[in-house]
Amino acid sequence: MKVRTLEQTDLEPASALLFQVFDRVAKKHNYQPPWPGESDVSGLLGRYRRDEPACVVVAEEGGAVIGVGAARVRGEVASIGPIAAYVDGRGIGGAIVDELLLRVENAGAVASRLYVDAWNPSAYALYAGRGFAVFDVVMHIERAPGPAPSLDSARGLEVRPFETRDLEQLRRFDQRLTGHDRGPDLADTVRLVARRRGDIVGYLGAQHSAGSTKLGPAVAVDASDLATLMAGTLTAEQSGQSARAAGLSRDEPQVARLSTAAPVVSMAALGLGFRVRELGVVMSRGAPPPARPPQLYSIDPEVL
Ligand SMILES: CC(C)(COP(=O)(O)OP(=O)(O)OC[C@H]1O[C@@H](n2cnc3c(N)ncnc32)[C@H](O)[C@@H]1OP(=O)(O)O)[C@@H](O)C(=O)NCCC(=O)NCCS
Repeated sequence: MKVRTLEQTDLEPASALLFQVFDRVAKKHNYQPPWPGESDVSGLLGRYRRDEPACVVVAEEGGAVIGVGAARVRGEVASIGPIAAYVDGRGIGGAIVDELLLRVENAGAVASRLYVDAWNPSAYALYAGRGFAVFDVVMHIERAPGPAPSLDSARGLEVRPFETRDLEQLRRFDQRLTGHDRGPDLADTVRLVARRRGDIVGYLGAQHSAGSTKLGPAVAVDASDLATLMAGTLTAEQSGQSARAAGLSRDEPQVARLSTAAPVVSMAALGLGFRVRELGVVMSRGAPPPARPPQLYSIDPEVL
């Protein structure tokens, strides 16, 4: 077996493998697979490859693709995953992770983070055996389309649609709280920016794909401000008008990966009508994250 950079001709077999492995494993545990169809996976892998070609790899044996993995580097922090092996226990997953760690470290990463579903002991063991430790528990939540609950006042919080001129201040705010240097991701995904007395105190990103709105990344200094931003995606009043102006719709189901570090946001999310679909953990190796702010982790691109 050798692990090498994914080439254009690998895209189809690698996407099929990634889709089928996750589909099989998730369904075996009675959980929803992460992607509805194979085309969603090839879109994802294609984007990862276009943006960071050295960070998308396949394991190959006898000319066949037997494993695939990807990573993203944002400044000094790398995010690892997804990883899949066509068969378990033959060292394929381990070889892919080791190669990705080598590559992201060569690219300047001093820390690596990743997300593991709580029902996935073999993935947990794979990473725990390489020095990764849990630093956050995530509620993977979803909300069916429906009317919004009524909202209290937002305590001086001003929520507006994202504008390009917010970007530099937003990038610095995000880096201070998460350690990521990810201006282009923020420019692509951020929909709402929250300020208090003129200073950015939070933001919320969202993307429409495969029939749902994926909320995140979203980060706030204060837990209740994150809850207000999430509510703002659902309501027409106050911040909600900004939400509509930002092109957010409440006619689609919403999904998000909510950090449970701030219990107030978990309570607020349940109060807003979100259901807990599953649990997961974010693991880290190397330099620890600077903080565990109230946040929604980014699902696509998966930057943790
Ligand atoms: C998770 C996955 C990638 C692991 O791939 P794999 O090829 O089976 O991994 P390996 O054979 O290299 O084993 C990885 C390590 O975990 C260990 N391991 C696996 N399951 C274990 C368990 N339940 N308890 C203890 N150790 C375990 C192996 O012994 C091995 O240790 P080593 O690297 O020190 O030798 C594979 O099971 C898979 O594709 N799963 C579905 C998709 C997925 O869950 N991806 C990961 C989330 S991004």
